[in-house]
Amino acid sequence: MRIFIDSANLAEIRRAVSYGIIDGVTTNPSLIAKEGHDHHDQIRAICGILDGDISAEVVSTDVDGMIAEGRELAKIHDSVVVKIPLIRDGIKAVGALASEGIRTNVTLCFSPLQAILAAKAGAYLISPFIGRLDDISLDGIQLIREIVTIYDNYGYATQVLAASARSPLHVKEAALAGAHVSTLPYKVFDKMFSHPLTDIGLEKFLADYRRTLVAHA
Ligand code: E4P
Repeated sequence: MRIFIDSANLAEIRRAVSYGIIDGVTTNPSLIAKEGHDHHDQIRAICGILDGDISAEVVSTDVDGMIAEGRELAKIHDSVVVKIPLIRDGIKAVGALASEGIRTNVTLCFSPLQAILAAKAGAYLISPFIGRLDDISLDGIQLIREIVTIYDNYGYATQVLAASARSPLHVKEAALAGAHVSTLPYKVFDKMFSHPLTDIGLEKFLADYRRTLVAHA
């Protein structure tokens, strides 16, 4: 499973990338707004931090606007994957951009039927939002399972990117469900490292080692 960081914060992205295991970054207009910089400048800065897929979202809602914006975003860097909302014009834009060799990440996916439309249009990634479904008492992970099964049934090349993760459990469940990618807020990524038995075990190993040093001094 590839791991992306869901953030537009450069310090956070650098910190995550320093582990050498991050495969990309997803952003959205809300995440970029939090940083207070120009949308394109922030995407350019992120592209300078790592070699991986960097999702950058369009803000137009009509097909021509999305295509034009997608072309501009794709010009920023080869790493850019153009994020397109799962609306009618969005599906048309995905097809047009795919025919020009521009990769897309279809976002705001909440149903398997929407995911079929994105795959048929030639999306590179589909982003089902787990957390936002759980927030309204629906089963986000079940959506991942259903999309993975449908894509496998028909051999669709579109990769499933589990988005809107709220916890390490979401990451584990998305991996078990066969998601190709999970995108994580930094705090969720950071929690993946932790296990109390690791800390207790290491403390004991080091204490025993120190005792050996004293015994042989
Ligand atoms: C990712 O591509 C999405 O923009 C993101 O995961 C949404 O997460 P949220 O539901 O926590 O805003």
